[in-house]
Amino acid sequence: MPGTRVFRLIYTSRSRIGGEAAALASILATARANNAAAGVTGVLLHTPDGFAQVLEGSLSAVGATFERIQNDPRHGEVAVLEAGPADARLFGGWTMAAVDGTAAPDLAWPVAADPAALLALLHGLLAASPDAAGR
Ligand SMILES: Cc1cc2nc3c(=O)[nH]c(=O)nc-3n(C[C@H](O)[C@H](O)[C@H](O)COP(=O)(O)O)c2cc1C
Repeated sequence: MPGTRVFRLIYTSRSRIGGEAAALASILATARANNAAAGVTGVLLHTPDGFAQVLEGSLSAVGATFERIQNDPRHGEVAVLEAGPADARLFGGWTMAAVDGTAAPDLAWPVAADPAALLALLHGLLAASPDAAGR
């Protein structure tokens, strides 16, 4: 709807799955099915150490999704970097894109607490990952 603002939430967390591929695949499968139904889009950066995720959609959908995510024992130390209304979706093409943060050689964990720097990093990694699923 023209004029409808989206709500965007960005957080980082410490992984408790240690980069295990099957566990990550399970998270992404659930995320994409739920997000498609709820109109949520975004991107998940993962490394064996942690996650950074962008969630965007209606306030109620993002709120309900983040509530579940926050309580998920597969990660911890969830820290919100940014939460608020935005003019447009940045990752509107993806029910949940996945980018491997280990592809960013100088990515230290926890990632920079600056949301703009994190968004730039995510865009760069996504552009370099033509096979990022969740489109
Ligand atoms: C790092 C991480 C990211 C996740 N991202 C999403 C997501 O984008 N959408 C979603 O519905 N669930 C996501 N989940 C899974 C939720 O925590 C939860 O397991 C799932 O929504 C099912 O919730 P339910 O078992 O209460 O139905 C994520 C989990 C983790 C650990």
